[in-house]
Amino acid sequence: MNKNIKQSYLKKIYEFKKHNKFYYENSSPLISDKEYDKLKKEILDLEKKYTFLKNNFSPSQTVGFKPSKNFLKFKHRQKMLSLSNAFKEEDLINFEKKIFNFLNKKVYLEYSVEPKIDGISASLTYKNGVLVYGVSRGDGREGEIITDNLKTIKDIPHKVENSNFPKDIEIRGEVFINKNDFEKIKGTFANPRNAASGSLRQKNSAETSKIPLNFIAYTFGYFEDNKFKLQSDFLNDLQIWGFKTSKYNKIVKDISGLVSLHKKFEKERFQLEYDVDGLVYKVNNLQLQKRLGFTSNAPRWAIAHKFSADYTYSEILNIDIQVGRTGALTPVAKVKAVNIGGVVVSNATLHNEDEILRKDIRIGDTVKIERAGDVIPHVIEVDFKKRKNSSKKFIFPTKCPSCGSKTEKDFNKITKKYDAVRRCGSEGFECEKIAIEKIKHFISKEALNIDGLGKKVVEKFWDLKLIKSPEDIFKLDYDKISNLDGWGKKSISNLKYSIEKANEVTLDRFIFSIGIRHIGIENAKLIADHSKTIENFLDIINKKNINQLLNIDGIGETQIQSIEKFIKNRANINNINKLQKVLSIQKLEINKKGKLKDKTFMFTGKLIDISRAEAKSLIEKNSGSIVSTVNKKLNFLIIGEKPTNKKVELAKKIGVKIINQQEWTKLLN
Ligand code: IVH
Repeated sequence: MNKNIKQSYLKKIYEFKKHNKFYYENSSPLISDKEYDKLKKEILDLEKKYTFLKNNFSPSQTVGFKPSKNFLKFKHRQKMLSLSNAFKEEDLINFEKKIFNFLNKKVYLEYSVEPKIDGISASLTYKNGVLVYGVSRGDGREGEIITDNLKTIKDIPHKVENSNFPKDIEIRGEVFINKNDFEKIKGTFANPRNAASGSLRQKNSAETSKIPLNFIAYTFGYFEDNKFKLQSDFLNDLQIWGFKTSKYNKIVKDISGLVSLHKKFEKERFQLEYDVDGLVYKVNNLQLQKRLGFTSNAPRWAIAHKFSADYTYSEILNIDIQVGRTGALTPVAKVKAVNIGGVVVSNATLHNEDEILRKDIRIGDTVKIERAGDVIPHVIEVDFKKRKNSSKKFIFPTKCPSCGSKTEKDFNKITKKYDAVRRCGSEGFECEKIAIEKIKHFISKEALNIDGLGKKVVEKFWDLKLIKSPEDIFKLDYDKISNLDGWGKKSISNLKYSIEKANEVTLDRFIFSIGIRHIGIENAKLIADHSKTIENFLDIINKKNINQLLNIDGIGETQIQSIEKFIKNRANINNINKLQKVLSIQKLEINKKGKLKDKTFMFTGKLIDISRAEAKSLIEKNSGSIVSTVNKKLNFLIIGEKPTNKKVELAKKIGVKIINQQEWTKLLN
């Protein structure tokens, strides 16, 4: 009797575990909320009735409750970007060099050093001292409103009464769980970071409140009337206002100081109360931070110096070739499962064909595998002593494993070398694997952001022939889907909702979503800004009028060649035309209020006391744009020392206004 009860109980636990996995890791639930709750209740009821039943994965032991996916969205007033990484001293020297180049001179740099806590970042908007919004990072531009959940964290003040507290400010920091606390609640979570992320996404904040979450503040987003001179002063005042800051924060004067502090921390990291995966170095002077600004995805004034990764050895069982969205063939080693720093690893990337040749990696080899933070595990080297006599060199396929097309390597005209990456020659929807990856890209966060349709669901729908191209997403056969295992009313209505929501898309996201190689979100924005409307964009590509894009500063030969290759393929053009009919594509809305609004500029010759990069960034901050050819659309040609005569002559001839650096500075002030 007891045996039967136990068996039935374990079966339910197994199911519960499985559904948590589908929800948390794959983002594709197989059952409805109701069914999930029923299962949970059945387990808890059994435990109540038969006290001998106990299991680590039971809902009574874990916090693996199903989170909601329907939080309202919030546009960050200042983007939440990530940090670029440094691994060695040389990277730090380069980081400083870039700063000096941007500023056009060597300056004294002092750093605010802070531990890089491995948690989930959050942004808190306070107006008149009251916490009005708590938001997740999301895709960096738009996050989810999780105010109620964040309010359950004891470190987050709901009200700040200090009279010096700014009237309107976004305070940003990290939400995390201490290692000790994680041990008590770990349940279905792989690590403290996942646990923090899962608990922040609970539908019911009462669930979040059960988790011992912490918050450490470290920066600001939007900040009206910021009078602070130093990051370290800001960190001090954060404490006065009632926020927690890290007790490990320090000020360091130079790179050698940074390196020795890093060494010390690297040794002590495992003794710290929370997971830290490196140190963050921020230029302490906030005026310099402001001048330096941001590249497309990270500040120029900060860098994360990562700790060295964990590694272990395992045996390669097989080498799979994955086909990516742009046709790149990526070899992946299937290895005997090993645990690296708390995470089970059974796949490790081998990067590309050249890498396999260079390291002479073979099936059957014992290899060193490294895993750092959220980076995909990769193979470092072969342990040749363990190589078997029978092993054979790995032959990279000359045909695409998905569609059989010939594979090829691009020739780079600039470096005069062949690319390290081999690609499927088809470049399009006719290759099954590429098509699936293109669809996954289309729905991804920075593209159409259809969060109800995860990657796994795309694969499933592809297999069932429900989706063959991006446009099919908008014509799904919901009757058929409702007959599929795991699709209840609730999950279908969620899916419908997120697809409907995605129907309205801005031009930049649309251009990014069609997946042209070398056109990432930043380039897509530049092109959208240039073309203004979808009609103009279609005109440019349909009339093969691509070279005009060279006028955009930031778009070069590589991008043009890639766009040309892309539009040569009929399937790509068909896809765009069809999508244009089902989507409502909006003009890119750029916040253009600056003094140089709608004005175009070009530089020739050397500027005094300012680098080209900073000059360009100043123009852009004031809503002007930079172009790279002299033509009638150019408003101002700015001349520095030793200008190119040809450009000046042409500008004179066609009546472009020519100004010197002083006159330009006047325009700005
Ligand atoms: S500053 C634009 N400071 O690291 C500046 N970030 O890769 C961005 N992080 O998303 C953030 N500790 O989640 C900053 N002291 C610290 C940090 C920190 C951890 C995380 C944060 C961010 C990621 C950037």
